[in-house]
This record gives sequence, structure tokens and C-alpha cells, in this order.
Amino acid sequence: MGIDADGAPIDVAAIHAQDKQFVMGTYIRQPMVFVKGDGARLWDSEGNEYLDFLAGIAVTQVGHCHPKIAEAISKQAHTLMHVSNLFHNALQAQLAARLCGLTGMDKVFFCNSGAEANECAIKLARKRGKQLRGPDCYEIITFEGSFHGRTLGALAATAQPKYQEAFAPMPLGFIYTKLNDLTALDNLISERTCAVMVEPIQGESGVRPVLPAFLKAVRALCDEAEVLLILDEVQCGTGRTGCFLGSHQFGVKGDVITMAKGIADGFPMGACLASGEAANTLVPGDHGSTFAGQPLACAAALATLDVLEDEGLMQNAEEVGAFLVDGLKSIASRHSHLVNEVRGIGLMVGVEFTKPVAKQLLAGLFKRFIIANAVGDSIIRLVPPLVITREQCTRLIEALDIELTQIAA
Ligand SMILES: Cc1ncc(COP(=O)(O)O)c(C=O)c1O
Repeated sequence: MGIDADGAPIDVAAIHAQDKQFVMGTYIRQPMVFVKGDGARLWDSEGNEYLDFLAGIAVTQVGHCHPKIAEAISKQAHTLMHVSNLFHNALQAQLAARLCGLTGMDKVFFCNSGAEANECAIKLARKRGKQLRGPDCYEIITFEGSFHGRTLGALAATAQPKYQEAFAPMPLGFIYTKLNDLTALDNLISERTCAVMVEPIQGESGVRPVLPAFLKAVRALCDEAEVLLILDEVQCGTGRTGCFLGSHQFGVKGDVITMAKGIADGFPMGACLASGEAANTLVPGDHGSTFAGQPLACAAALATLDVLEDEGLMQNAEEVGAFLVDGLKSIASRHSHLVNEVRGIGLMVGVEFTKPVAKQLLAGLFKRFIIANAVGDSIIRLVPPLVITREQCTRLIEALDIELTQIAA
């Protein structure tokens, strides 16, 4: 037996059993049942307090249960939760204007997830390509190691066979090339290409920032070939790197930007933003979503943006992120036989090991009440809420140091 956030008993074994029987087995779950969150902390049903370096996978951007967001959601839930996109919605209009201001884009299509944001980008790019160069202009070039989501279109854009194989055939029209290899990309761009799609920092394949010069050159190639540049900011956007968009770190502007994850601090929301001609490509009947951009989600997103700005959390991401990376690098130098690289920007950090020890390390961190996650067998990803402090980072660094020492022994 455990206890919920109010101290009432909950039967953890029964939850595990129900989950096993009734929920499709698409996730490998840890046994903990979290019942409460606050800032960068989580509590499980045993009353244990954890430090959260995962943030729902880069989602609870301004921290768990921020009071201003809880209040905005609660107020809106008592006023108007949902209204069809067949009517105007003041909060949606406000949020669109705010996001355009922050990103330099002209228009937004709202949706409910990262995959959906990318589906919108794919449809937009195909339609634009056909308008420009005829019916054969529908190819989208993406990069090895990318992750764009699990719906069929987004999955086809995801250049990783391990995610695609069981679901073949993939939708046509996606071709893949090596990240940071300009010649290879240049050779693939043709009259058939409608877009190049890239994550400024690849998240799921191990926190790999694109080379700045490469991204700038991709921008130039896209301009020259009249091809849309789609930047997938789903994981690296919403202030995580210290700038509002990951691409702001590289000084590159996309024609289309996709966002989700942290945009509403955990309330499901996604957005596909476009600029220039691309912003007017989709017209009535082309695309839509029942839930997207509803007042409740928009209230959560507007409050998230307020907190991000009012509490200086992008600056915190930059400063505390640098502190975290420095600390990790200093233990890496003492465990150089085990740590291959510490990389990342702001609070999107990856630690790559020389051996497949990521899962063992995570288990050790869990025992010390620290949550992180592994991408593959030899990389740990750290994407905490942007409210994380230096002291909390120090706890993680020390715990990792001890775990590495134990593995080395
Ligand atoms: C870069 C990127 N794009 C798209 C997605 C898909 O987002 P969602 O899981 O909300 O569909 C993810 C999720 O991890 C992601 O990291």
C-alpha cells in the first residue's frame, strides 16, 4: 500500500496489475507511481521525494504544478474549456500573436502534440511544393538519427529504421541523409524537393546539436533551391536552450517551425508556425483538429509563456545549464575511461559513455531519488524543468560521480 498526495491509501500492486492487464504495452515503465509534483521535485506513493531531471521528457518546462499555471487552468476550466475551431477564440488569437512575436513567424496552426505539429508541417510543405513546381514536388529530406514523432507521416520523416520497421510500408516522399554533411544534402536537393526538415538539436538520438555552420549553409541551400526549411523545435524549443527557440542559438530562421512538449508546461499542445508565403498555404478544408487551440490549452500556454518571461527562466536555463555542463565535465575528466562526452546547450544535456552503462547508472540514480533517462544504451539525457537550481544540479553531479566510481571499481 502507498499513499496519494492527500495521504489517502493507494494500492500500488493493484495499479501495476491493472496497467499490465488493460494498458497496451507500449512503454517500459519504472515501478514508481508519482502522486505529486512541485517545481523540479516529484513525490512517489511511498512518500519519497525525487529530483526530476526528465521533466516528463522536456515537458514541464516551468516546473511541476506552477501555481500561476494551475490557477490559469482552473480559472479557464470554470469559464470555457472547449469551443470548436469553427468559432473565434480570444485566447487562441492572443497566443498565436505571442508565439509569432517570440519566433518571428507570421501564422500558427495549433494542434495537440509534436507529431501533429510535424504532420501539419509536412502537409504544408507538400502543398507549397506542388504549387511551386507541380505534382512531383513533394519530397522532404530529413537526417539520420532524427526523431519527428510516431504518426505515420512523422514516422516516415524519422530517419531511424528501428522505429519504422514494424510498420512498413512508410508513406512515400521522404529521403534521408547524414547530419552535418552539406555535400550529401546538396546532392539530394532536386526539383522534387519541397522541404528540408531538421532538429536544431537532435534529442531522441542522444542530444546532438547540429553544427552551426551546417545549419546556416542549409538555410542558404534552401533559399537558393526555393525549398522550405522546417525546424523541429518540439524538444529544444520553448526556452530550453536559454533562447526561446533552439535555432536562435544558431542565428538561423526557419520557414516553418514545429513546437510542442514544454509549450503549455504539460498541458497537451502543439503548434506549427510558418512565415512568409508558407504562412498562407493552408486554407479552409486543408487541415484541422477538434481539440487544438481550445481555450483551456491556450490558457495553460499563455501562463507558461508569462512564467518563462517573468521568472527569467531562459536565463536560468542558460546559466544553470552551463553550471551543469561544467560540473559534468569535471567528473567526466576523472572518469575519462567511462565518459566519452558531455554535450548540450542550456538545459538540454547529454552524457555519452564509452560503454553501455546508461541503464545501470539510471538505476543507481533512481535509488538516490534522482530521475533522468537514457537514450540508447550509452547516453543519459538531462532535460530538467527550467527552474532547476545549481544546488539541485550539484546533487545530480555528485550522485553520478559516486555511481561512476562504483562502476569503475
Ligand atoms: C524533436 C521531436 N519532434 C517530435 C516529437 C514527437 O512529439 P510527440 O511525442 O508530442 O508527438 C518529439 C518527441 O520526443 C521530438 O523530440
